Amino acid sequence: MKITVVGAGYVGLVSGACLAEMGNDVLCVDLDNSRIATLTAGGVPIYEPGLKEIIARNVAAGRLRFTTDVEQGVHFGTIQFIAVGTPPDEDGAADLQYVLAAARNIGRTMTDYKLVVDKSTVPVGTADRVREAIAQELARRGVDIPYSVVSNPEFLKEGAAVDDFMRPDRIIVGAEDDRAIHLMSALYAPFQRNHDKLVVMDVRSAELTKYAANAMLATRISFMNELARLAERIGADIELVRKGIGSDPRIGRHFLYAGCGYGGSCFPKDVKALMRSGEEAGVHLEVLQAVESANERQKHVLAEKIVQRFGDDLHGRRFAVWGLAFKPDTDDMREAPSRVLIRELLDRGAQVVAHDPVAMTEARRVFGDLEGLTYADSPMEAAEGADALVMVTEWKAFRSPDFDRLRKALKQPVILDGRNMLEPTLAREAGFEYVPIGRAAA
Ligand SMILES: NC(=O)c1ccc[n+]([C@@H]2O[C@H](COP(=O)([O-])OP(=O)(O)OC[C@H]3O[C@@H](n4cnc5c(N)ncnc54)[C@H](O)[C@@H]3O)[C@@H](O)[C@H]2O)c1
Repeated sequence: MKITVVGAGYVGLVSGACLAEMGNDVLCVDLDNSRIATLTAGGVPIYEPGLKEIIARNVAAGRLRFTTDVEQGVHFGTIQFIAVGTPPDEDGAADLQYVLAAARNIGRTMTDYKLVVDKSTVPVGTADRVREAIAQELARRGVDIPYSVVSNPEFLKEGAAVDDFMRPDRIIVGAEDDRAIHLMSALYAPFQRNHDKLVVMDVRSAELTKYAANAMLATRISFMNELARLAERIGADIELVRKGIGSDPRIGRHFLYAGCGYGGSCFPKDVKALMRSGEEAGVHLEVLQAVESANERQKHVLAEKIVQRFGDDLHGRRFAVWGLAFKPDTDDMREAPSRVLIRELLDRGAQVVAHDPVAMTEARRVFGDLEGLTYADSPMEAAEGADALVMVTEWKAFRSPDFDRLRKALKQPVILDGRNMLEPTLAREAGFEYVPIGRAAA
């Protein structure tokens, strides 16, 4: 099949590369010149395990191409994926300007049937607006060309995106016409040879399904973070509670980890956008309100613990921060808890030396030249001479540090573990004052 993917970000690039891997002809279009220049020169503008290899293979096979030429993109694919960003606008609603611009481009240029697939995360009713935007452009041109608009929200996880796309748990298709359903089924057939994963539903339900999934996951995290605060106060251990409840199949083990808050490009904005949709529909989503405010508070938990331990004024103090990305295996720092922590430490006069296995270039872009913030090439170098080590992202490489070297490197043997990565007894036996989340500190 000939497929155009509009937007070559985390979702568009991974989708395009994986669709090419299955033998399709794919053209990725992005308005960002530097992004497309990097891709055409053989580079990959984002870090995602396995992505570089799959792109290289499919470019070499002639099945994957990149362009900034919007018209070429519209002419190329019978299937037009819209995978552009949907950032929050000032009041938290999803900003649809990029989605609607992509839709108008299609209507302005198309000359034959197009299946337009909304892959971006978009509020209920967006497919109608996309359909309308295309209809207006066609009417303006005085032409009548058939097209379908379907919703196909994406559930990949950054850090495991290629794997998730190649082996999805489910493929949600919101479609109401047979031609579109038939094409979508054919497109995804290679991804579900083992068993049927396609769930076809009406467009509105598909649009809501994506928000419901992210909101549920965010809810689990905020719930555990609140319980962690309580556990600390009343002398319980949130890790034992997690194991205790996770073994119940009605609850399950995933997304029950207490930590220093969720971040990333999806949960925060999708929770906000869903709340906004609720307001617009006259339904106040109280649970989500609490989920969001619990998360905002939780992003400050590490700074609070540092203040408790070192006092309000952190002038003359130095902290090593391990982990900048919002989660491991990505360089994405959107809404990352590290951003809140670092700014708070700097505001209180501290020096911060940060290390992340892949997000340091992104961190330099995000923070610019912040006084007091420097970067280290290795975790141990970051720890050198610091008053405490603060662990913020659960990279595997941080899970089993060389405690002897670490103790010698730090000025004071203090570890604040924002992801409960370490075994408390091991850290304490190694001579550290160990401060986890939701468990006894000592
Ligand atoms: N990142 C994730 O893990 C993830 C997972 C599931 C769903 N989503 C959703 O997918 C969508 C895209 O997210 P992302 O993280 O890939 O975003 P991103 O910011 O990484 O990429 C979006 C790309 O779209 C390009 N773009 C914007 N307008 C364009 C236009 N008119 N024509 C061509 N290109 C255009 C931008 O230049 C950018 O490169 C969002 O709605 C997001 O919520 C993201």
